[in-house]
This record gives sequence, C-alpha cells and structure tokens, in this order.
Amino acid sequence: TLKEEGVVAYSSPSNIALVKYWGKRENQIPANPSISFTLDACTTKTKVHYKKKNNKNGEFSFDFLFEGEEKEEFKPKIKTFLKRIERYLPFLKDYHFVINTSNTFPHSSGIASSASGMSALALCFMQMERSFVENMTMEYFNRKGSFLSRLGSGSACRSIEGPLVQWGESKVIEGSSNLYGIKYPYNVHPIYDNYHDTILLVDKGEKQVSSSVGHELMHGHPYAVNRFAQADTNLDKLKAVFSNGNLVDFISIVESEALTLHAMMMTSSPYFILMKPNTLSIINSIWKFREQSKTHVCFTLDAGANVHVLYPESEKDVVFPFIKEKLVPFCQNGQYICDRIGLGAKK
Ligand code: PMV
Repeated sequence: TLKEEGVVAYSSPSNIALVKYWGKRENQIPANPSISFTLDACTTKTKVHYKKKNNKNGEFSFDFLFEGEEKEEFKPKIKTFLKRIERYLPFLKDYHFVINTSNTFPHSSGIASSASGMSALALCFMQMERSFVENMTMEYFNRKGSFLSRLGSGSACRSIEGPLVQWGESKVIEGSSNLYGIKYPYNVHPIYDNYHDTILLVDKGEKQVSSSVGHELMHGHPYAVNRFAQADTNLDKLKAVFSNGNLVDFISIVESEALTLHAMMMTSSPYFILMKPNTLSIINSIWKFREQSKTHVCFTLDAGANVHVLYPESEKDVVFPFIKEKLVPFCQNGQYICDRIGLGAKK
C-alpha cells in the first residue's frame, strides 16, 4: 500500500515523429499509426508530493507549479487529464498533490512540451501505483505509463521508451496498438545510433492552431482517407530503411511526412499556414547543402514553424558547422537546441 505522504519524481523526454500522427478518434485513438525518435535533451522533470486527504470530498485536489511558480492557467488541462485516468488509478481522489514541474528547454520556445510534460506526470502516478501492485514488471510499468500518457496528449505515449517508438495499430508492426506506444520491435541499423536532431527555433510565438484543433480538422478532410493509408505505407517502407540504413530513402519518407502534415493544414477548412518565410529558407538551404556536400542532412517539422534538422553522427563534423553558419541566422534571436536520439524516461 501507499504511504500517507511521500514524493515521486520522473523525467521524461520529448519526441519527434518521423511518420506523423495527425487525426484522432474518441478517447485519443489515433487515425493512423506513427513512429518517432525519442529525444534526449528536451525533457520535462516533474516531482509530485502526495498527501492523504482528511476529507474525501470526491474532488481532485492539486497545486501546480511550473519552474517554481504557481500557474493557474495549466490547471484545467491537468484536471481533464486526471478525469480521464481516474478509472485506471482509483487512488487519485484520496490524495492532495503538489505538482512541481520544469523543462530543460526554454519555456515558450515553441517546442511542444505536452509530450514530455504529460508523460512525466503519468509516470509519477505510475510510481505511486507501484505501491499497490506487487512485483510490477518493467513491461507493465512502461505499457501502462504509455497508456496513461496517451490520455494526456496522444504523442506523449511515444516518450516512455526509446530510441524508436511506434504507436497505432498497423498490419506491418507486430504488437502495435492504438492504446500505447511500443519500442520498435525490428532490427535498426547502427547508422541511426546517436542520430542528431538540431532544433531551430524559428518562431516562438503562440501557435495559430493547437494540435487538438488540428486533429479535429481531419474529420471530413477531403484528403483524410488517403493520408491515413499513406502513413501505413510509409511505416512499412521505413521498416526496410531502418534495417538497411538507406538514408536516401529515409530522407524521402521523413521530409515527405513533414510536408504532408503541413499540406493537411493548408487544405483543411479553415486552413492554416504554420510555416514562416524562415522555415522555407531553412528547407531550401538544407536541400542545396545536401546536394553540394553529399551528406544526408534532412528536416522534419511539427505543427509549427520550427525546423528539426536530422543527421547521422558520422556527418556531424560537416553538417553542424553548416547549421551554425547558414541556418542559425534564420532563428529567432539565434536560438537553437542541440538534441539527439534518446532512450526514454528516467526516474
Ligand atoms: O500529441 P498531440 O495531440 O499534441 O499531437 C501531436 C501531433 C504532431 O506533433 C504534429 C505529430 C506527432 O506525431 O507528434
């Protein structure tokens, strides 16, 4: 059983999708399968102090602090999360929580913190649940942790493990599920070890469209059916690419996925353009440099203007100086984050 009072803590990373999740059904069920690199440097650290309540009034009770300061504006999102997961963690209403959280990446950098934030909190609750379940296996811990994270933010379910996580039922991935992410179960070529993701912060402003609105816009979207089928096909193609290390094919799938995500937003109703002029300048520079240098640098995008620049460890000495000299000038206040593929959440 759980003590009257105690502290649990977890640190969980962000992730970057190679095949994008865009479109969902009820209960955070994805409309298509996705796969991502788990990141290493961009993480959320969360500490939860729990204390048994005297009066069990049937309400959730918690304080929320972000980087040491109380933030009322984040509380509704957390409350929605608690409501969704309560049936799987029946002890939640018996405790008062003080949730303390901080990010390793700059706040309001335009880097989505929902994947790292929601997974870190879900894993803190899993730590509590451990006291109720005898001999909980790591597999159970990770699977339920991913399941709960998904109910906070879909992509968060891909942050528990690493280096590659797949989420969403697919005929081509054995053991895949709509309910949780799984560690990619097939062979991965060593060229992907230590793969780099340099994140260029092009625009740190508020997003024009939240991802929940974006997912919603895939309902009745004129290209939805084909897009969902394409994600499956790309996942299948990536299987070969991961095992044989063919970076030329890797690039064509990953860049196409990024542009397709934005194409879906540009062709929804209402429509949005989330890329900025500097996003396009960066993409064009990457293409030009790749041609000249014969390297395998490529880009991917989230639902925003920032660019994730991906390249193998073996090309770092050529690619990174190019990024610093030619791409960083397009960043807002010259800001960028050096990240790489990581192994998942840590206590
Ligand atoms: O987890 P959500 O609901 O914020 O959706 C994230 C969607 C993308 O980041 C655009 C793509 C993805 O697969 O991560």
